[in-house]
Amino acid sequence: MRQMVFGFPEQLLRAWTIGMQCHFNFKRKAGFDNVVIAGMGGSAIGGDVVRTVLGEETTLPVLVWRDYQLPPGVNRKTLVFVSSCSGNTEEALSAYEETKRCSGQVVVITSGGKLAAMAQGDRIPLVLVPGGMPPRASIGFMSVPMLAVLYHLGLCRSYEADVHEASRLIERRRQYWWREAKRSARFLFNRWPIIYSLSRLLDVAAYRWQCQFNENAKVLAHWGCLPEASHNEIMGFGSAATPAPVLFGLVDRSTHPRTILRWRQMLKLIRGAYTRARLVRSEGRLPLARLLGIIVVGDLISVALAEQRGVDPIAILKIEQLKHDLGRKKG
Ligand code: F6R
Repeated sequence: MRQMVFGFPEQLLRAWTIGMQCHFNFKRKAGFDNVVIAGMGGSAIGGDVVRTVLGEETTLPVLVWRDYQLPPGVNRKTLVFVSSCSGNTEEALSAYEETKRCSGQVVVITSGGKLAAMAQGDRIPLVLVPGGMPPRASIGFMSVPMLAVLYHLGLCRSYEADVHEASRLIERRRQYWWREAKRSARFLFNRWPIIYSLSRLLDVAAYRWQCQFNENAKVLAHWGCLPEASHNEIMGFGSAATPAPVLFGLVDRSTHPRTILRWRQMLKLIRGAYTRARLVRSEGRLPLARLLGIIVVGDLISVALAEQRGVDPIAILKIEQLKHDLGRKKG
C-alpha cells in the first residue's frame, strides 16, 4: 500500500491522459446543467474530489450519490457518472440500472467487472481505468478522468496544469511526509483519531483520512469540520466513556482566521480530553494540489499506523465478506 501511495504522482498524470483520450459523441454536448456521480467508498471519494475542486470556481451543481437509487430530479440535462473501480459493487450496478429509467446522459468509470460489460453491451460511454489496485489506492483514476470528460464537454476549464502541479508536489514531498507519518502513527497507537477540516476545500480530505484509518489501519476514526464542530461536538469531549483521542486539524490557505482562533480556543477548553493535537497545512498553489497533497499525507499516516499495528493495509476482509454475503441474498 505504501508503494501504491508513493506511485500516486504517476497515477495522476496517467489518469489525466486516460480522460483526455476519451472522445464521446454525446447527443447533448454542452447541454448539461448538473452532474451526478454515483458510487461508493473510494470511488465516491474520487467524485467528492471532483465536486470540491469544481466548486472552487464554477457554479455547476455536482452531487455525489452513495446509494442504490439515483437522486430525485435527474433529467435530460443531467450528466450521470456511474463510478465503481471494481465494476462489481452492487449499489453502483443498481444505480446504473436506474439510469435506464431516467433521461440523463450516462458515463461509466471503472476498471472492468460487470459494470464495464454492461456499459459495453448498452453502448454507454466508458472510461476504462487500470485495475489491479484497491479502489482507495486508485483515487486518481477515479477522479481526474472525470475532470477531463467535463472539460471536453465545455463544462469546466482544462485541469492539466493542476494535475501536473499536484503530481509534482506529491513527488517532491512524499519522502518527508512518510517520515512525519511514522511520527504521527506513534502517537496514534491505541488512540482514536479525530480529524477536523478547517476549510471546505478539505472536508473531503478529512473524510478520506477517516476512511483510510478504517480500511488501511483497521481502526475506528471520526471526522468533522470546523467551525461547525465547535457548536456541538465539543460537548462530547471529556466524557469518561471515550478514550482521549489524537486530533488533527486540516488547514488551508482559505481557512478563515477566526476558524484557527476557534480551534485554539476549543483546544484550551477541552484540555486533558485529548492526547495530542496537530495542525496539518495543505501545500501547493492550486486547489487540486492542496487537496490531493493533504489526502496523501493522511494515506501515509494510515499506512504507517497499519505497519505499526502489524496489520495488512491492503486486506479488507469484512468489506469483501459483506459484499459476498449480500451478493448471495435476493431482494
Ligand atoms: C476498497 C475501497 C472501498 C471500495 C468500495 C466500493 O479499496 O476503497 O471503499 O471503494 O467498497 O468498491 P468500488 O470502488 O470497486 O465500487
